[in-house]
Amino acid sequence: MTHQSLLRQITDYTNRADPYPLYKELRKTPVLHEGDGGPYLVSSYWDILNLLHDPRISSDAANLAAAGADEMGGAETGLPPSFIRQDPPEHDRLRRIANRPFGPPHSPDKIESMRGELAEIVSELIDGLGETRQIDVVDQFAYPFPVTVICRLLGVPREDEPRFRAWVDPIVASLDPDTGREDAERRSAAQEARMQLGMYLAQLVEQRSKKPTGDMLSELVTSHGPDGPMTTMEVLSTAVLLLIAGHETTVNLITNGMLTLLRHPEYLERLRDDPRLSVNIVEELLRYEPPVQLVPQRTCIADIEVRGITIPKGSRIWLMLAAGNRDPERFKDPDRFDPDRGDIQHLGFGSGIHSCFGAPLARLEAQIALSELARRLDNPHLVEDPPPYRQNAVLRGPRHLRIGFDGLR
Ligand code: HEM
Repeated sequence: MTHQSLLRQITDYTNRADPYPLYKELRKTPVLHEGDGGPYLVSSYWDILNLLHDPRISSDAANLAAAGADEMGGAETGLPPSFIRQDPPEHDRLRRIANRPFGPPHSPDKIESMRGELAEIVSELIDGLGETRQIDVVDQFAYPFPVTVICRLLGVPREDEPRFRAWVDPIVASLDPDTGREDAERRSAAQEARMQLGMYLAQLVEQRSKKPTGDMLSELVTSHGPDGPMTTMEVLSTAVLLLIAGHETTVNLITNGMLTLLRHPEYLERLRDDPRLSVNIVEELLRYEPPVQLVPQRTCIADIEVRGITIPKGSRIWLMLAAGNRDPERFKDPDRFDPDRGDIQHLGFGSGIHSCFGAPLARLEAQIALSELARRLDNPHLVEDPPPYRQNAVLRGPRHLRIGFDGLR
């Protein structure tokens, strides 16, 4: 296997159902670089963790564009990059303002207070399955659940989902790193979609600035804390980020979770008897089948040495989170799904200043979703294994997950 083929294989769809043998290959070369201005790939746990905390690694969209990546999210879309594509101090200021509705920094209280509401949405979805004995977990459960939640949290009308889904799909498709000829087309479709989504959200933001309704859009647009207000454009970029990040990843966590539990029925059974096991199951899933497989949007803003290899200033760098999560230097028996392992410090939510903003919500959603599926579905089983996957290599998960069961409990 040549290195050239290794890099291409990451986006190659044939590896989507099981990319882990490929990641094992990648870990053999601590810093993989194919030349020609291509990215430097880092795949070992400790190296990734160090780099996620290294201020010489930039998330700034402008640095990435200067490094030759086909970057969207810049000025040409009419919306400034959101804080996931910015460095301090701007990143920190915007993230702090976005966090204000959640109370003191990192307080899970607001999220914990949503537990009852989340459980109700889950019950309604499961009750709504009716008399059927076969479902698609993605379309009938794992997608509608987080969409409903993020819509309520932000204050976006749930019934508008078909409208914004048409814009979200091309934006998500563009998150995949370069795949060749059709890139320019993909990029311009994504730019157009981001602008449309921004314009749609602008109407809602305008309404809320006149008449706040207590939701997150209202809070963002009326926030006047120590960091000052966000500009309208900053509110829109933040809302686009939260709307997309809020459901496109969680759908995969829930679906990967159900798939993994059906492949390891002993845990499904244990979960049915004890919903508290969902905490460890979700953490182990974030290690074993992480919904965000890699972070390909980083640039070195100084020469950086990793294991004796110098990554030159101005290079793009891909941090292979899912490869780090299976690194035998870090985790014993890493290819085993083992929610009982004592130490599960995975990279599934990233780490450092950009670590996932929505982690407490995503965790709670997945814990409730999986424990309720385990409790309510009688004798569930997979109809096809492996299931068909979504095209996306970065946000990886099944497009459909058809399962059969004997009825609802
Ligand atoms: C950042 C994963 C759910 C909002 C991240 C990052 C990862 C991640 C790996 C780091 C990206 C980087 O370093 O560049 C996930 C996974 C989720 C999930 C696996 C579900 C299972 C959510 C939810 C929300 C959210 C529900 C919103 C409510 C964000 C935001 C950032 C982020 C705003 C950017 C943080 C920053 O740049 O400071 N997420 N996420 N995520 N996530 Fe999540």
